Amino acid sequence: MFLADRIEAQLPGWRDRVQRLRGKSGDFKVCDVTVSQIYSGIRGVQIQVSDISFVDPYEGLRIRGYTVPELMKTLPKATGSEMPLAGGLFYLLLCDEIPTAEEAEMVEEEWRQRCLIPTYVYNAIRRMPADTHPMTLFSMGLMALQRESVFAKNFEIGVIKEDYWRYYLEDALNLTAKLPGLAAFIYNLRYQDGIYIPPKPDHDWSANFAHMIDRSDDPDYHDLCRLFFFLHSDHEGGNVSAHAAHLVSSALSDVYLSCAAGMNGLAGPLHGLANQECLKWLLSVQDHFGQLPTKADLRVYLKHQLEGGKLIPGYGHAVLRTTDPRFTEQLNFARKYLPTDGLLQLVELVYHTLPDVLKENNKVSNPWPNVDAINGALQYHFGVKEFDFYTVLFGVSRILGLSAHIVWSRALMKPIERPKSLTTEMLEAMIQTSGN
Ligand SMILES: CC(C)(COP(=O)(O)OP(=O)(O)OC[C@H]1O[C@@H](n2cnc3c(N)ncnc32)[C@H](O)[C@@H]1OP(=O)(O)O)[C@@H](O)C(=O)NCCC(=O)NCCS
Repeated sequence: MFLADRIEAQLPGWRDRVQRLRGKSGDFKVCDVTVSQIYSGIRGVQIQVSDISFVDPYEGLRIRGYTVPELMKTLPKATGSEMPLAGGLFYLLLCDEIPTAEEAEMVEEEWRQRCLIPTYVYNAIRRMPADTHPMTLFSMGLMALQRESVFAKNFEIGVIKEDYWRYYLEDALNLTAKLPGLAAFIYNLRYQDGIYIPPKPDHDWSANFAHMIDRSDDPDYHDLCRLFFFLHSDHEGGNVSAHAAHLVSSALSDVYLSCAAGMNGLAGPLHGLANQECLKWLLSVQDHFGQLPTKADLRVYLKHQLEGGKLIPGYGHAVLRTTDPRFTEQLNFARKYLPTDGLLQLVELVYHTLPDVLKENNKVSNPWPNVDAINGALQYHFGVKEFDFYTVLFGVSRILGLSAHIVWSRALMKPIERPKSLTTEMLEAMIQTSGN
């Protein structure tokens, strides 16, 4: 298979490179970990390697070395659209090279062939109480699909370690192919009386999601889906969903189990829920003013909120120290496609007002917007107003990145992760012995 061929061609070089690094520089110290780092979520401690993506504090996300604007230019586009094809992005994540239009289309075709979801998955989801959170249903869907794992079946029979990645790749393609259909099924079940719309064979992966939730007649929403699924696909290895998926897969749990673990992390309010919090906040600002406020009025309002201890969602970031380029791309989309939308005009006004107010506040490390400052407002414009579904959209996209990471972890035969834990008493004793 063409993706396996591309990965296979790179593997000897990569395995050699890692082995040489470990052999020659195994004792090289990257960083010492302090007690406060241990107690603050090992924040910023460099303990992982991801060659798939990296978040630079001042440039933002780079996927396989390319910035977001570079990828917007160079990735092959969907037919009749300026937005990248998800198939081309997945190719890049896996194969470390910008695909040709033909190669991107080959991934899309693989997905078309593999998109059918077994009925038992739908039935398992249907049996849940109607008020179950969509992210729970999404994670359940991934777990139910685990029955299909090619890796799990072949592991039972017995396969050599060097070849695990081939089965992971099969699983990754089978799983990612089904994501738009699974998400659309959950959306329709929860919010559209359980309508069922089959995928269209002439649509790309992203546009098919729009089509299956009954937005066929809106090409602009197709483009928003293409943009959204591109921008949310990966954000290096240390965030909760990437780290969780990586950890679970290190136990040789297959792609389904590992991605479900990642999604359970994404469902947490400190990770994937920020976009809905941001939209709620924007709507409350809109409600407060009734119309687009002046910059001066908004400034007074924002200052007042911050002085009252309010956390403004969509602003700040643990790593970034600049405007998130994923925010900028979505703002460009809003300016071009939806210039008269009042809520998006408010997003822009907040962008021109809040960073200065946050800078005056002095304690905020990054006063600039992150990806969540706008994405909910864009979905809202197109009538996807069910806040609790937004994390599922994020998840559909993020599994592209998670599964590529997992395939490569098996290709490089990374071992099971097993950091060591200490007791508080041991730490106290170590500090006392050192005389500090
Ligand atoms: C993203 C976030 C969690 C990063 O946390 P962090 O790395 O600890 O951020 P900082 O170092 O800038 O925090 C320093 C202080 O500024 C505050 N701060 C940071 N972002 C803020 C914001 N958007 N509004 C108000 N205060 C903020 C923090 O609460 C902290 O206050 P404290 O010292 O009283 O506890 C944080 O900026 C945040 O909560 N933002 C809003 C939620 C959000 O958009 N999340 C999505 C992230 S992709």
